[in-house]
Amino acid sequence: MTIIAGQTVLLTGASRGIGTFIARALAKEKATIVGVSRSQQGLDKVAAEVKALGGKWIGITHDISQVEELPILVKEINQRVGSIDILINNAGLEIYKKFQDYSTAEMQSVLTVNLMSAMELSRLLLPTMLCQRRGHIVNIASLAGKKGSPYDSIYSASKAGLLMWGDSLRQELVDTGVKVSTICPGYISGQGMFADTGVPAPRLAGISTPADVANAVIQAIKHNQAEAIVNQDPITAGMTKLLMALWQIFPKFGDTVYQWMEVAKLNQLRIENQMQIALRTSDRKLMVTAKLDTEIKKA
Ligand SMILES: NC(=O)c1ccc[n+]([C@@H]2O[C@H](COP(=O)([O-])OP(=O)(O)OC[C@H]3O[C@@H](n4cnc5c(N)ncnc54)[C@H](OP(=O)(O)O)[C@@H]3O)[C@@H](O)[C@H]2O)c1
Repeated sequence: MTIIAGQTVLLTGASRGIGTFIARALAKEKATIVGVSRSQQGLDKVAAEVKALGGKWIGITHDISQVEELPILVKEINQRVGSIDILINNAGLEIYKKFQDYSTAEMQSVLTVNLMSAMELSRLLLPTMLCQRRGHIVNIASLAGKKGSPYDSIYSASKAGLLMWGDSLRQELVDTGVKVSTICPGYISGQGMFADTGVPAPRLAGISTPADVANAVIQAIKHNQAEAIVNQDPITAGMTKLLMALWQIFPKFGDTVYQWMEVAKLNQLRIENQMQIALRTSDRKLMVTAKLDTEIKKA
């Protein structure tokens, strides 16, 4: 069993949602946490909680969608804390749309934050892990990477990519001392990107808590698990595993179950809600500017 105490962990997406629960769980294990996200305010809040739990914390604001700037982030981390023992690729972005309505920039941002930056950070940290013959890469994927989610196709593609890249890497790194785990949460209540949509989960889909995901991360590191499905309780998670395996053989059977669960209908509602949230928050300015641009062009 791996002991987390004293290990240095790089956690992306540490400012809110599931990331804050992972940070707290790592603090309880007495790890040193390097939390990365764009929001200084969010990181400062988590810093206070981690320190209160007796954990060590370094917060670094960085936009990981700028993949070519990730070497600068890694250099700063190495200067401030030395090498990273555990990388948790948790930062994520989800945009609900009809496939044909995505802009190129939206597709690129989801694929970059969810997949490309995770691969690039791992690529940059791996040589040191291999030299030390120890390390662990944990990828936070999703059940959406196991069965495609309608009106959320780019997110599903990014998570399926994360799953298969992690699956390949784990085999490549066998006997090197560097481990790879993938966590696949289902719907998460309370906090996080699903809860933020304000639309309920489909009927009979399991619901878990962010703390369940954090616990799965800790267990995956301690016991070197290849993959963990987080969905409500061990029985629901076991049933989910069986269904996902069956849908690999019979995808249209999976489509029928998703239709019955009204997955598409609920995701369509999320498109509307996400638009409204975007209008209420910082994206408002962008949308107004875009509208003005269009009106100016028309005039
Ligand atoms: N919530 C769910 O139901 C659910 C289910 C399955 C899987 N997951 C996965 O779990 C992970 C965490 O999700 P969540 O629900 O906690 O989402 P969330 O509440 O939206 O938080 C996303 C985190 O990612 C960070 N982030 C986003 N874009 C970034 C960028 N360009 N650079 C740096 N950091 C960035 C955000 O920080 P800043 O905005 O401050 O940059 C934030 O800390 C994601 O990978 C998600 O796909 C979530």
